[in-house]
Amino acid sequence: SGLNTLAKAKGKTYFGSATDNGELSDAPYLAILSNNKEFGQLTPGNSMKWDATERSRGVFSFAGGETIVKLAEANGQFVRGHTLVWHSQLPTWVSNGGFNAATLTTIIQNHVTALVTNWKGRILHWDVVNEIFNDDGTFRSSVFYNTLGEEFVSIAFRAARAADPAAKLYINDYNTDGTGAKSTALANLVRKLKAAGVPIDGIGIQAHLIVGNVQGSFATNLAQFAALGVDVAITELDIRMTMPSTASLLSRQADDYRTIVNACVSVPRCVGITIWDYTDKYSWIPSVFSGQGAGLPWDQNFSKKPAYASIAAALA
Ligand code: G3I
Repeated sequence: SGLNTLAKAKGKTYFGSATDNGELSDAPYLAILSNNKEFGQLTPGNSMKWDATERSRGVFSFAGGETIVKLAEANGQFVRGHTLVWHSQLPTWVSNGGFNAATLTTIIQNHVTALVTNWKGRILHWDVVNEIFNDDGTFRSSVFYNTLGEEFVSIAFRAARAADPAAKLYINDYNTDGTGAKSTALANLVRKLKAAGVPIDGIGIQAHLIVGNVQGSFATNLAQFAALGVDVAITELDIRMTMPSTASLLSRQADDYRTIVNACVSVPRCVGITIWDYTDKYSWIPSVFSGQGAGLPWDQNFSKKPAYASIAAALA
């Protein structure tokens, strides 16, 4: 049956995977990615980010993102656009430009409008702003916040809505998988934006997790977000471990995946789950967390790990 087929039967919109352009030449990789019984949604891991799409001011390149959108369309898969306004993978012409508030507002509006218009009608969700909070719930220092205050958020959301009224607009962050200061700040901001009429439709929970460390409050937190009157999505799920992987770690990982999927199943407004690529072969984890890895449901040889069966069972 496959994870996407099961997720849809459970009332979800999709079960999906991130991918990246460089991986698409790997034929065995592409065959599984393209199977819409497994994946009903793709997220470009890098090719829609600011440094990939507007490397110089006003000069746009959509080719990398378009490759992934076309692939998804050919396979009957949705696309989550990732991501419009983020402090990272941001060209220095933006971060070090020394722009005043009015100019930076125009720069954000132009960037958001260009991307969202380019893929109008073809993107299910956009991650409009990404990782705007510190773990203590204060706003992260970034050129956007430091120049515009929190107003940069509504500037970005309004521009995105104007460019594609059909796309669902998300705020996305990490370390918001359990209750706590960061989740509270996120909820408070969403409440405030909605009260002010800012067009926001969803909260994305990245969920880059660690085996054995899944927050007991994951499901409660998800339900609290949904109770704000927005959709929620698990947008970048992986559950890493200290290598080497052992049968015992893989079994605990399967339990942790089950916990996360069960939480989404239990919250009607949790619309979908995206794993941050599907195979350990292309995971970002080992390059950032030395000595850790094996975070995904397929191993580096494309064999299904115990986590696959536990996800399927939770969706069955
Ligand atoms: O494309 C260049 C290549 O030309 C160059 O030779 C090579 C040398 O380092 O780098 C390549 O760029 C890398 C890029 O991925 C594409 O592979 C960057 O170094 C590398 O830093 C970048 O990592 C990405 C990371 O975001 C950067 O922030 C990961 O692939 C991507 O999976 C990861 O995704 C993020 C989400 O966007 C937001 N949430 C966290 C998540 C994991 O970090």
